[in-house]
Amino acid sequence: MAADYFLLIIRWMHAVAAVAWVGGALFYWLALRPALRSEAASGGVAQRAGREFGQVVLLAMWVLVVTGGILAVQRLSEASGGVAYASVLAVKVALAAWMFSLALSRVSRRREADTPRRGRLGVAMNALGHVNTTAALGLAVIFLSVVLRFLVEEGA
Ligand code: HEM
Repeated sequence: MAADYFLLIIRWMHAVAAVAWVGGALFYWLALRPALRSEAASGGVAQRAGREFGQVVLLAMWVLVVTGGILAVQRLSEASGGVAYASVLAVKVALAAWMFSLALSRVSRRREADTPRRGRLGVAMNALGHVNTTAALGLAVIFLSVVLRFLVEEGA
């Protein structure tokens, strides 16, 4: 019973971290970037937003790895964790690893920071680079998570 509550909290943390990261990336893609293209917006805003969002992404990444690992061990040790489940999970983890590597390469690039790009859009790309790919990968990863849940419910 206590284990069930623990897993509930883990699942909640996993979902919140996913929402924060993918939601933030979608916000950039659909709202912030179009706004930055307008004359009134400044490149400094993009840089600061990128720095703040970078902290959120780093925290979300750690939470996703730790809680995702716990959820995976729990599911794979259940009878419902069959071959189909393990295969979809493997694809999901590969896509998640791609997201993590994009995020980490962005952080290390920012640390170098000797060759900043020019122009408002260039500054935005430095601050929030790869975020469109992250958003697309995030949507795919969330879809696979829904498939995983479906496979459990179907007993596959
Ligand atoms: C090491 C990386 C990860 C592992 C091992 C992992 C593992 C898992 C597992 C085993 C589940 C439970 C699926 C089920 O119901 O059977 C799950 C759920 C989920 N994962 Fe991940 N995950 C990882 C990364 C991510 C990332 C990067 C995202 C988002 C971008 C994400 C989003 C979700 C969502 C939205 C759910 C559904 C939560 C729920 O409704 O319970 N995961 N994950």
